[in-house]
This record gives sequence, structure tokens and C-alpha cells, in this order.
Amino acid sequence: MANIERIGVSLESELLVQFDKLIAELGYQNRSEAIRDMIREKLSQKHLAEPDASGVAAVCVVYDHHSSGVAEKLTSLQHSHFFSTVSSMHIHIDHHNCLEVITFKGQISEIKKMADQIVSLKGVKLGKVNLVSLDAETQPHHHHS
Ligand code: NI
Repeated sequence: MANIERIGVSLESELLVQFDKLIAELGYQNRSEAIRDMIREKLSQKHLAEPDASGVAAVCVVYDHHSSGVAEKLTSLQHSHFFSTVSSMHIHIDHHNCLEVITFKGQISEIKKMADQIVSLKGVKLGKVNLVSLDAETQPHHHHS
């Protein structure tokens, strides 16, 4: 495990009250854990902006499977990018709608391109992309029990 440094932080009491309220709502057990995650999130955002950065992404799409060709196009896109497609999950939500979650791993610029193609497919009603960088500094630490 990495060396742990202790730091002191000064902030206005009103800001601290709001911070404590926020992290309690988010389910954090203590301030340190919340601050660590917020720092990692910021570093991850910075890393995601670098073109050569590597990362993983979960792309969620909702579409009507009766809508012409969208299911086939989704499959075909994953086959043409099989190298970075890690996994996909298909859920039949109701008579019309399907939810598909596709996960990618690789160069962030490539993943973004692919994700944009998927989300903008004709017939896709809703598309969300969640990108996470795989930079060493921002990787979540492992919990040891
Ligand atoms: Ni379905």
C-alpha cells in the first residue's frame, strides 16, 4: 500500500456543514474517504481529456427492438470493434423496449468515438456513456478486510 500522508484542511464552517451533509447523503463513513474519492474523480477527469489515455466505459442504450435495424446495427458495431468490446448485456424491459449495456476498454479517444456512434444510432431513444480512466493515480484502491 502507498504511503499515507496526513493533511489539515481549513474551510468555512458553513461549507463544512454542507460537505458533511452531502457525504452523509452519498453514504460515506468519514470525510477522508469522501475527499480521496473527490480528488480521484478530479484527476480522472483530467486524465480523460488526454488523447492517449486508456480507460473503460459503460454505454447504456434504450431502444425499441421493433424499430428497423437498430439491434443489428448495435451488434455489427460491437463486432467491428470486438477488440475493445469487453462485454454486453441485453435486458428486455417490456414489449417494446430493450436496454443494452456495452462495456469497452481501450484508448479513450477510440472509446468515445464508438460510444458516440452507438448513442446517435437511429432508433436509440436514450443513451448514456460513463467513462472511467485507468490512470494509475486515479485507480480505486483495493479494500483489504
Ligand atoms: Ni430485448
